[in-house]
This record gives sequence, structure tokens and C-alpha cells, in this order.
Amino acid sequence: MSPVKVQKIVCIGAGYVGGPTCAVIAQKCPDIVVTIVDLNEGRINAWNDEEYRLPIYEPGLVDVVRSCRGKNLFFSTDVDKGIQEADLIFVSVNTPTKKSGVGAGFAADLNYVELATRRIAAVATSNKIVVEKSTVPCRTAESMRTILEANAKPNCRFDILSNPEFLAEGTAISDLHKPDRVLIGSLQSAEGLDACQALSSVYAHWVPRERILTVGLWSSELSKLAANAMLAQRISSINALSAICEATGANIDEVANAVGYDSRIGPKFLKASVGFGGSCFQKDILNLVYLSESLHLPEIATYWRQVVEMNEHQKSRFAKRVVDTLFNTITNKRITVLGFAFKADTGDTRESAAITLIRDFMKEKANISLYDPQVEEAQIWQDLAEASPNLSLENIKKQVKICSSSLEACKDAEAVVIATEWKEFKEIDWETVYQGMNKPAFVFDGRLLVDEDKLTKIGFKVITIGRGSL
Ligand code: NAI
Repeated sequence: MSPVKVQKIVCIGAGYVGGPTCAVIAQKCPDIVVTIVDLNEGRINAWNDEEYRLPIYEPGLVDVVRSCRGKNLFFSTDVDKGIQEADLIFVSVNTPTKKSGVGAGFAADLNYVELATRRIAAVATSNKIVVEKSTVPCRTAESMRTILEANAKPNCRFDILSNPEFLAEGTAISDLHKPDRVLIGSLQSAEGLDACQALSSVYAHWVPRERILTVGLWSSELSKLAANAMLAQRISSINALSAICEATGANIDEVANAVGYDSRIGPKFLKASVGFGGSCFQKDILNLVYLSESLHLPEIATYWRQVVEMNEHQKSRFAKRVVDTLFNTITNKRITVLGFAFKADTGDTRESAAITLIRDFMKEKANISLYDPQVEEAQIWQDLAEASPNLSLENIKKQVKICSSSLEACKDAEAVVIATEWKEFKEIDWETVYQGMNKPAFVFDGRLLVDEDKLTKIGFKVITIGRGSL
């Protein structure tokens, strides 16, 4: 057997990963027809929106979709047809942390992966290469293979590949256009290697061959968890050091810069902040913790769990610093929170630090004014309600006001808290903000974003992560 030439790809899951990834494949491979399917009709309608109001915000994404939608890129709710027509299927469904049952709070919920796999087995009538794109625990491919083989029609063979996605939200399109590496895991059998070759040839349309790494299935699955755990560990490490800076008078920016000059360490991901968020870091580390525990490696589990615990500590430490600085009470005081997305250049709010901060401020009975340039109002209410299950939405709305600009949000506030590093927050007219605030006017910079000297000259009292107070 020689590797199949991939002509039709279907991607199951039109989310933050499936959408951008497969849109870029369509853009770079005009000879391949790419269909992205999802059960969520609203999402598919948005991907097909005439005005290109896509369901996710990602710089550069609209241009990619505009260049190939309707030519070789299609979005559809017809999952079965997509499966039947494709020779290669990406499974890019969500794998959130389990909320109940065995492993609740740690293990990945593989229900969506299993349902998608069962659907493939049920409707496929020809050979398929099935590519695990979702982030999954090590050896999930084996379960997928068992399900597919047990339910396959006669003469239908399935080859499973692992091809984890390393894109970061906010820079997804440039990450996809110029990936550091593409990782493909396969069984080391002749058929497995052929399937690997077929997928490699898709990426080779634009990714240099030396950046396409081919490895065993289990190494590929574990490498994704390992990469996220190590990235998050760098953030927790620098955040742990930021606490020491605040207590000693050292400056975290200077420390990070000095440390990052060491070529063995490097400058990236050494920016202290109010804590990491996003749908992946916490989930994937907890997944690794669960994996370690299942393998009877409790010390390894404790080691990785600490990365997540440090992140929680960083968020609550920052909220406490706000309360302490505002003379130990924020009851009935107006606090402005700038930013709700978990980081700049995305509308994604999953595990965003802003959610925890606002929840803590609500507990202290503060009034909160909030502004984010991209996050939809409905999403904000949903996140805040989930974070405070004991409060009715009506009561939350009494304490929180969503504003349509930074200036509006800062009016009459005692303090401004920067929770997301949106570029536009750098360019705020701070003079005007200062005029409209109660005095003393505080700015808490949770993202090392603003020019502290400039704001101090205007009259603000500026409190920055990783720098001693006032
Ligand atoms: P998402 O929640 O944005 O999208 C998943 C989509 O799959 C949803 O639209 C859902 O309706 C759809 N879906 C679920 N089951 C389905 C089924 N049986 N048939 C058809 N559609 C189905 O999730 P996201 O963020 O795209 O993540 C997907 C996977 O990629 C996860 O495993 C995640 O860990 C991983 N990942 C995420 C990254 C990120 O930055 N968001 C980066 C790298 C990997």
C-alpha cells in the first residue's frame, strides 16, 4: 500500500481550533476540499455569515475565510455527509475537564471525542484516516481504534493519527502559517506510517519538511500535555517570583529580563501577570495530574498540581492587594475592570482571571464597571453567574455594569484594574480618566501594561504586579 493522496478533509468541531486550523489548510491547499462540520447550528451559521461576523475573534481569520469559503472551504451541520465524503477526518471537538464521576475536576471529559468516533464508525462506508486533533490523555487513540474497529462496516479500515494543535488563541493564524513544528504521531506499522505520510503531505504544502515531526502515537499525545504543562509552569514560576519582588523591592520586569537573557531560559513567557487563563493550560495540567495519579505516581501528580495552585494563588493575591490598598474595604466602592477575555486578541473567556477577580470583588460588595472590546455581554453574564452560583443573575446585575468604552467604565471609580492586556488600554486618555475618578485614584496593573511613571505624574497611585507598593 502507498500513502493515499488526501483530496477531501472533514473537520468535526468548528471551534477555536477546528475553524482556524482547517480554514488555513483550505487556504494553503487549493487542491483539497475542506468541510468543517459542527452540531452547533448557530456556530455554523456564523461561520457562513455573509458579513463575515464569525463566531470567534482571531486577528487575520476573516481574510483567510474570505479567501476560500465557497471555493474549497465549506461549513456545514451535516456531519454524516462530511464523514462519508472525506478521506481524512480531523476530530477537533472539545475535551473539557470532567465535572462529575470518576476523575471529576481533573480528568478530561472524552465524551465528545467518543461520540464523534462512534459517529464516524456508524456512517463511514470507505477507508478513513482519523486524526485526533483534540487534546486528549495519553493512549486515547487506542480507545478510538477499539471503537472504530468494533463498529466498522466490512472492508472499511481506519488508521488513527495524533496531530495535536499548538496554536495559541490571539495569534492562531500566524501560528498556523508559520508553526514552530507540526507533530504527527502514528503507529509504527506500515499502514500507520503511510497514513502519517498522507497527512505530512497536506502540511508540506506550506510547512518546511524539517518542521514536520513524526513520532509514535503515545509520544505525540503526551507531548501536547507536556508542552502546555511546561509553558504554564514558566508563568507560575515568574508569578511566584513576582510575589517575592513585591515584598523585597525587586522589580519583576527587570528580573525577567535578566533571567531571560540566559539562552538556556530565553525571554518568552516570563511576563508576570494576574494569572494565566484560557481553555487549555489548567485543563491539560489537571489531565496530566490525573494521568500521573492513575499511573500510581503521586509525587509527580503533586509536582504538576502545584503549577495550577500557584495560578489560583496569584489571582487571589492580586484581588487581596486591591482590597488592602483601598484602605481594607471596597464595600460600595466602584471598581473598574478593564478586560474580560483571558488574554488580548481573543473573545474567549474560558478560565479568565477577570472572572475570579470580579467574583472576589462582588463578595466584598463592591460595584463593578466592566469593559472588554470583544467579549459579548451574554457571555459575561453567563461566566459571572457560573462563578457565583449562590447569586441570582438579577443580583449580579445590580453589582456589575457592562460598559461600552474604557472611559465610560472608569467614570466615578475609585480604582481601575487592568485584567487583560488589550493594546487599546495602553492608549487610553488617562488624563480624562483621572479627571472623572474619585481621589485618590488607583490603577492596578495586572498585566504590566501601562507606563507607571506617566500615570504617576498625572496623579494616579499605580500598583503593579511584581513591584513593591507606592
Ligand atoms: P470548542 O469548544 O471551541 O469547539 C469544539 C466544537 O466541537 C464545538 O463547537 C462543539 O459543538 C463541537 N462538537 C462537539 N462534539 C461534536 C460532535 N460529536 N459532532 C460535531 N461537532 C461536535 O473547543 P476548542 O477550543 O476548539 O478545542 C478543541 C480541542 O482542541 C480541545 O481538545 C482543546 O483542548 C484543543 N486545543 C485547544 C486550543 C485552544 O487554544 N482553544 C489550542 C490547542 C488545542
